[in-house]
Amino acid sequence: MLKSTILTALAFLANTPFLGVQAAACAQQPETFKNPILYEDFPDNDVSVGPDGAYYFSASNFHYSPGAPILRSYDLVDWEFVGHSIPRLNFGDGYDLPASGERAYRAGTWASTLRHRKSNGLWYWIGCTNFWITWVFTAPSPEGPWTQAANFGGGVCFYDNGLLIDDDDTMYVVYTYDGGKQVNVTQLAPDGLSTVRTEKVLVPGQVGTDSVEGNRMYKINGLYYILNDHPGSTAYVWKSTSPWGPYEGKPLADNVPGPLPGGGAPHQGSLIPTPNGDWYFMSFTWAYPSGRLPVLAPIKWQPDGFPVLVTNTTTGAWGTSYPLPLPPKPLNYTWSGTHYPFTTLASLPPSFEWNHNPDTSKFSLTPGSDTGGLTLSTATVTDDLYAARNTLTHRVHGEFPRATLELDFAGMADGDRAGLAVFRDRSAYIGIHRTGEKFEVVTRFNMTIDEWSGATVDLGRTVETIEVPEGTEKVWLRVGMDARPDGGHKATFEYSFDGGEEFVPLGGEYELYTGWAFFLGYRFAVFNYATQGLGGSVRVVSFGTE
Ligand SMILES: *[C@@H]1O[C@H](CO)[C@@H](O)[C@H](O)[C@H]1NC(C)=O
Ligand SMILES: *[C@@H]1O[C@H](CO)[C@@H](O)[C@H](O)[C@H]1NC(C)=O
Ligand SMILES: *[C@@H]1O[C@H](CO)[C@@H](O)[C@H](O)[C@H]1NC(C)=O
Ligand SMILES: *[C@@H]1O[C@H](CO)[C@@H](O)[C@H](O)[C@H]1NC(C)=O
Repeated sequence: MLKSTILTALAFLANTPFLGVQAAACAQQPETFKNPILYEDFPDNDVSVGPDGAYYFSASNFHYSPGAPILRSYDLVDWEFVGHSIPRLNFGDGYDLPASGERAYRAGTWASTLRHRKSNGLWYWIGCTNFWITWVFTAPSPEGPWTQAANFGGGVCFYDNGLLIDDDDTMYVVYTYDGGKQVNVTQLAPDGLSTVRTEKVLVPGQVGTDSVEGNRMYKINGLYYILNDHPGSTAYVWKSTSPWGPYEGKPLADNVPGPLPGGGAPHQGSLIPTPNGDWYFMSFTWAYPSGRLPVLAPIKWQPDGFPVLVTNTTTGAWGTSYPLPLPPKPLNYTWSGTHYPFTTLASLPPSFEWNHNPDTSKFSLTPGSDTGGLTLSTATVTDDLYAARNTLTHRVHGEFPRATLELDFAGMADGDRAGLAVFRDRSAYIGIHRTGEKFEVVTRFNMTIDEWSGATVDLGRTVETIEVPEGTEKVWLRVGMDARPDGGHKATFEYSFDGGEEFVPLGGEYELYTGWAFFLGYRFAVFNYATQGLGGSVRVVSFGTE
């Protein structure tokens, strides 16, 4: 009964346009849910309940701008993309990819916290950047406008922090320092914009481990709880009668195999209550080349006041499916199968994020089918994709993500390079190169940065080239991936000159990189940069995902 009602609702939604975006597909909603809850790269979740009863999910996105994405759900299963807590990464010159060569790959937003405060109606995002400064951003609603409200001064880094707003409105932040070897709690001033008291509250050695990260703080049944984890393996829950301790800790999930073949053990995340009195642990599984995918499981409180994870009774692993936490409330949001017609969009949807801060004078979004769309003017003269400004990215979704870019390249200048990449610390693309009066479709593989420093170590190599037919000004570029952690880790590239009817493969297979140290998974990336001089541009007519 319930199921058929939902399917009818979904059939309706599938035909409903959303903000000018055609919703082409919608996930089925059975009475159980499947892990990962979202097959998309949203690491370091902090999930909490908002004043409207909805769940809000804050994630980190490192050097992508805007920063700190926010998702919303009413049932913990169906999520929509709401916006970002950080409109622009004002954290240092490197975030703008300046000509001096500074860059901020892997910097920016790391495990941070998002909470609503009833007393003044404000949302608070708190996070540390560059191991150095803790920022507070506030907003009257998750949609914004978000304001950079305060920082706590140089050298005060609330690394991997979690905010608790106590019943009496006192704000506490828990965080790690000294490389994860110590955990502090800091009480904030009544306005939340400065600190008043700091105490060291626990050390990881109490539970026999050497470091913890991903700190969260809760008050449950009058007791103070800290959730944190040992990187890569184990989630711990700590309990005390006072925010200042002493805390007693126990493992919540100790090397529990993840729900996804080839994915890692979930460990970092959030404890989440439901109105029924049930509790859940939202974590993520490491799953490159895709990234870190959110996974959800019920937890059960024991008489000793600690929770245990509900695992698959046969395997002891994190379940691949569980009963729905709440009656389903499907949202009007499609994560893939979405066609973005830039010729009719008034603004960039939140699912798009720039690689570093964009130069806003070098792109524009204008309506109109013949001349409109997203115009990307070249913003950098370089031979290095990783040095180019205004590369627009979109997360990949699902096991076999695919994207198609419709590109008008008539405005390219001599030496310009534009196209569609699979983008992380090792990248590949299919694009258009202009050399003199000659236009070519080119596949280029293995542009590489050092996964720790972000310095370019390989400008890549051209794999295959074909000349663009005389008089052609528009191309459809397509990238497909096997993004399963236990899959083939391959990307393939195609182009079409006939309106996207027939696609021709170019360049063969690219081996996707599965190293973890870049922290983020592959994204689709639309780029346009100059190798000779500025002045050229391309028109992005549409971008679609499958
Ligand atoms: C879905 O979005 C469309 C367009 O914005 C709107 O008309 C419709 O009411 C929405 N449906 C739901 C269930 O929110
Ligand atoms: C954590 O607390 C200890 C003890 O109060 C203090 O010495 C240390 O500076 C604090 N660390 C941070 C990063 O605030
Ligand atoms: C538990 O694991 C078994 C064996 O892998 C699998 O067949 C079953 O579907 C799993 N059940 C759930 C609820 O994840
Ligand atoms: C890709 O680049 C890395 C770093 O320079 C290099 O080690 C590797 O051999 C390259 N692979 C290919 C296929 O070119």
